[in-house]
Amino acid sequence: MTRTVAANTRYQDCVNPQWVRLLNVLQLNVPYTRCLGTALYTEDGRRILDFLSGYCVHNAGHNHPGIVEALKEELDQCGPAMLQSHVPELAGELAEKLCSRAGGRLRKAFFCSSGSEGVEAAIKFSRAHTGRTGLLYAEGAFHGLTCGALSLMGDPFWRDGFGPMLPDTEQVPFGDLKVLEEKLATRKQAAFIVEPIQSEAGIRVPAERYLETAQRLCRRYGTLLVLDEVQTGMYRTGPFLASHLFRTDPDMVVLAKALSGGLIPSAALLATDEVYDSVYGSLKRALIHTSTYSENGLAMRAGLATLNVLERYGLGDRSVVMGEYLRDRLRERLVGYEMVNEIRGAGLLNGIEFVAPRKLTLRVAFEAFMKIHPAMFGQVLVMQLFQRGFLTQVCGNNFMVLKVAPPLVVTEPEADEFVQAAGEVVESMHSSTAFWTEALGMARRVMDI
Ligand SMILES: Cc1ncc(COP(=O)(O)O)c(C=O)c1O
Repeated sequence: MTRTVAANTRYQDCVNPQWVRLLNVLQLNVPYTRCLGTALYTEDGRRILDFLSGYCVHNAGHNHPGIVEALKEELDQCGPAMLQSHVPELAGELAEKLCSRAGGRLRKAFFCSSGSEGVEAAIKFSRAHTGRTGLLYAEGAFHGLTCGALSLMGDPFWRDGFGPMLPDTEQVPFGDLKVLEEKLATRKQAAFIVEPIQSEAGIRVPAERYLETAQRLCRRYGTLLVLDEVQTGMYRTGPFLASHLFRTDPDMVVLAKALSGGLIPSAALLATDEVYDSVYGSLKRALIHTSTYSENGLAMRAGLATLNVLERYGLGDRSVVMGEYLRDRLRERLVGYEMVNEIRGAGLLNGIEFVAPRKLTLRVAFEAFMKIHPAMFGQVLVMQLFQRGFLTQVCGNNFMVLKVAPPLVVTEPEADEFVQAAGEVVESMHSSTAFWTEALGMARRVMDI
C-alpha cells in the first residue's frame, strides 16, 4: 500500500469516510506536498492555484515565511504559552492592535479558537447586555455549526436532525430594512447578527446604505449590531473590515479564519466597553466566559505576525487593485454567456453567479442534473477548474455562485490564468457536450460508490 493510500484508509476508518468518498466523487482527492503563496504542489508534480483560500483563511498566502518564522521563534522561546494563571502579554498586544484597526467604539477583545465560538460569545454577550433573548439573523447567513451559531443559519439543511435550536431566533431578508424595523420594534431583540457581505449566501454585497441604516434602527430599538467578519475581515475586501466600506460603528465584530495566517486556530470577538462590562462587570465574573486555548501564545503570535505581514506588504490595497482587475477580466471574458448572470464582489471576495439556461438543449441537461442534486452543476464547474489547475468551490448556501477568493498575494499572471480557465469551462458548458458528459460521469460515480 502506498503512503497516500494508507493515509486515505486511516482517515476513512478513523475520521470521516464520507468526506473521502465525496472528494473521490469530485476527483479532488489529491495529496499535496507543499503549499506556498497561491500555489499548491501535488505529489504527482502538478501545480494547483488556490482560488478558495480555505474559505478566506489564507489572506496572507499559504505558509507565509513571515508568519512561519514568527511561530518558530515563539516556540524556541519556551515561554508561558498557556498557564491559565497569568496575564498573557501577547493577547493584550493583539487585542490593542485589532481594536485600533477596527475603530469606532470597539475597545475590548475576547479571544477564542473558531468563528462559531466567536458567534456563540456574541450571542451570550448580547443577551447579557440587553437582558433580552431575541436574535435576528439574515436569510442565507452562515455563522457556524455549533448549536447557537447553527440557530442563526440561513439554510435549514445544516440544522436538520440537530434540534431543538435556540429559542427566540428570527430570520429577516438580507437587505430588507422594512422587515428588520418591524422585528426590532418588538423591542425583544438582543442582537442583529449579520455578515457585511454575505459570503456563503453567494457573495451578496448590500446596497450602499443598508448597514448604516440597520445600525441606526438597531440603536433606536435598543438592539446590538453584531457584524460577522469571519470571512470578510483581515483586509479580504480591501479595508481591515468589510464594514469599513459601509460607514458602520457596530457593537461587536467577530473575526476568525485569516486572523492567524491559516496556521493556528484563533478567533476574536471585538466589543465595546459597555458590552464587555455587562459580561465581566465584577470580580466574581472575571472568568464568566472563557475558553482554554483562547489566549495561547502561539495563536496570539500568529495573529500579530499575520497582521504584520498583511500591513507590511499592503495586502489590503492589493486586494482592492487585484479584485478590480480580476472582476474586470472575468467580465470581459464571461459576460454574454447566457448562463453567466453576474460577476460581483469586493476586493478579493468575489463570485460568479450562474443561472439556468434558456436554450432548450442546455436546459434539458441542466435540469436533469439539478434533479439529481442541486449542487451537481456547481461541482462539475469545480471539477473542471481543478482539472485546469485551480482549486475553487461554490458557496455553501448558494450552489449557483462560484467563489473567486484567492490569497491577497495573487499576481496578475495568476489571475489571467484563472480567467482563461474559467473562460474555457464556461465556453464548454455552452457549446460542447464535454461539460455535461463530465456531469454524467460524476452522477455515475455517485451511484457506484
Ligand atoms: C461568516 C462566517 N461566520 C462564522 C463561521 C464559522 O467559523 P468556524 O468554521 O471557524 O467555526 C464561518 C465559517 O465558514 C463563516 O463563513
